[in-house]
Amino acid sequence: MTERDLQDALSRVISLLTAAVTNTSLYSRSHPQVAQYVHKAYAVLEPLMECHQEITLLLIGNDLLADGKPFIAGGAASSVAGFIRILKKKGVERLTFVAGLPISELEALIGDLASSESISVRSTPFIKLGKVELRIKKADKQGEVVGETGTAASGNNSAHTVAEVPPEALHELLALTSAEIDELKMLYLRAKNHKKIDVRGVDEMVKGFIRGFRREINPLGLLASLKSVHEYTFTHVTNVCILTMSQAETLGFTGEQLHQIGVASLLHDVGKIFIPDEILNKPGKLTSEERSVIETHTVKGARYLMGIDGIPKLAVLSALEHHLKYDGSGYPSIKGGWQPNIASQLISIADVFDAMRSRRSYQAEMPIGQITEVLRKGSGSSFNPQLVDHFLRLIRYQAK
Ligand SMILES: [Fe+2]
Ligand SMILES: [Fe+2]
Repeated sequence: MTERDLQDALSRVISLLTAAVTNTSLYSRSHPQVAQYVHKAYAVLEPLMECHQEITLLLIGNDLLADGKPFIAGGAASSVAGFIRILKKKGVERLTFVAGLPISELEALIGDLASSESISVRSTPFIKLGKVELRIKKADKQGEVVGETGTAASGNNSAHTVAEVPPEALHELLALTSAEIDELKMLYLRAKNHKKIDVRGVDEMVKGFIRGFRREINPLGLLASLKSVHEYTFTHVTNVCILTMSQAETLGFTGEQLHQIGVASLLHDVGKIFIPDEILNKPGKLTSEERSVIETHTVKGARYLMGIDGIPKLAVLSALEHHLKYDGSGYPSIKGGWQPNIASQLISIADVFDAMRSRRSYQAEMPIGQITEVLRKGSGSSFNPQLVDHFLRLIRYQAK
């Protein structure tokens, strides 16, 4: 089954479940039309569960993600919007169907979703519900564990902190990361000189980062060490990759999707190979003409990646969209109410965060409190508010 087939089937399930909830609210739980919709939804869902251990729907802002991918608007767009309204009303941000799901649990879910606002929706053995939250513990200034920020809905994820990582493991990871910056530098330089990108090299680097995340190290601790490397673009791209993948991983992305988000973040600024060095590395303020030249790195990067075999489409999109803001402003200007995909939204937060915390010849490093203030102020206009909140929690500055 292709990803598109899975999305189409899930759109059908959502549309039928929405109809079941609406009919329950209009008539009653026992109305024959309700049973009909639930049976139809189950008939589509059951074969899907034969090839998937779990299928998760995540609600991030106004986007519904099916198994990590945003729903593509189409014929089912209005029922997806209806389903989002139903989930929001009940405060459900994460819904996971587990293989073996009996129809009785689907019926119970519909009943709960259609019930009056005061009744909350309960998780059942094969349907897990909850909020999109972090699986890390909150630490105080000394790095001691003081409590959990929350657990994922399934409730069986282990929580680790920096304090729990043996110091040797940290050294090993830091060494690995500086070597990878050098590799990344070579990769960008080769792309610049020969206009060819080593897709396998990118894949290997992302795998290295994923191995690092398994140890669940605070991403900020990792970034501090990277600042000693002088080449801004390579350090920046590596930092953006680490910060983007930490966000994605704690939001629940896994496997191939997490990998593709990593590749997209490593390549987001690849279009800069087409920008003259004297503009790119100019110390001091840019003129408006120079700024417009720099802005072309988005379109140039996307066009470049489109012509390379083995590059995920997500990387092409993120190269194009990472300077687009949540409210549609930013660049490049794309007509028709274009919404950046979730990877681009994660990259844009990481990108702005790293740019502000980097000391360059013409710019002092901004204190972290000030950076978090900029992110908070841009929440809802420049950035997806839910992702900003998530990011601030990730770096241990709880959004107020
Ligand atoms: Fe950029
Ligand atoms: Fe960037």
